[in-house]
Amino acid sequence: MTSFAVLASGTGSNFEAIADAVQSGRLAAKLVGVVSDVPDAGVLAKARLRGITTAVVPREKDRAAHDRKILQALDALPGGRPRFLVLAGYMRVMTSTLIQAFRADRYSRIVNIHPSLLPAFPGVAGYAQAYAHGAKIAGVTVHLVDEGLDSGPICAQGAFSISECESVHEVEDLGKELEHRLYPETLSWILPEKFKLEERETASVRRLCVRPI
Ligand code: GRF
Repeated sequence: MTSFAVLASGTGSNFEAIADAVQSGRLAAKLVGVVSDVPDAGVLAKARLRGITTAVVPREKDRAAHDRKILQALDALPGGRPRFLVLAGYMRVMTSTLIQAFRADRYSRIVNIHPSLLPAFPGVAGYAQAYAHGAKIAGVTVHLVDEGLDSGPICAQGAFSISECESVHEVEDLGKELEHRLYPETLSWILPEKFKLEERETASVRRLCVRPI
């Protein structure tokens, strides 16, 4: 079974959805630990309650140095460095130190969930951006991580109507519900690497697209 660790900065509702999926057998993979850059992040308490190994690597200015310490924490998890790193609300852009450490042939074994239909609304507060733009549809993207900002190959997306929403909170609630279904489901074919990469080209850009096999 593929081993993976979760890297998270926040409350950890996606972590819980993933851990539930592992526990119930819907996600056949081994969750070996949770690492956070925020010492009092809710995700840590949730992981400890489940008896999952945790580690804290407090943020520091030098992002490459921080990433090297995260890598050390991952290497110290039971079984050593996991095969995959799953980001679940990790609020820092990674340096190539970490991305290269999880490098496969043409992609990195790092997965992220982003609260928008990428490539729309990269960066922070995807749901708030969609709401503030008066978008009628919002969504969620699961993607592999590359050196850019929310720019890696897209694995899966889900969308929902927000035309009736009257606050960002309503959008967030709908979004989180979708995230908690989409992330474990997508990880169930990403972690065993049951996908292929296709290169597609527009006039100016070449991109890698992920397709389940
Ligand atoms: C989610 O909205 C996710 O899409 C984004 O960060 C948030 C994390 O929420 N990357 P939680 O900590 O899993 O509740």
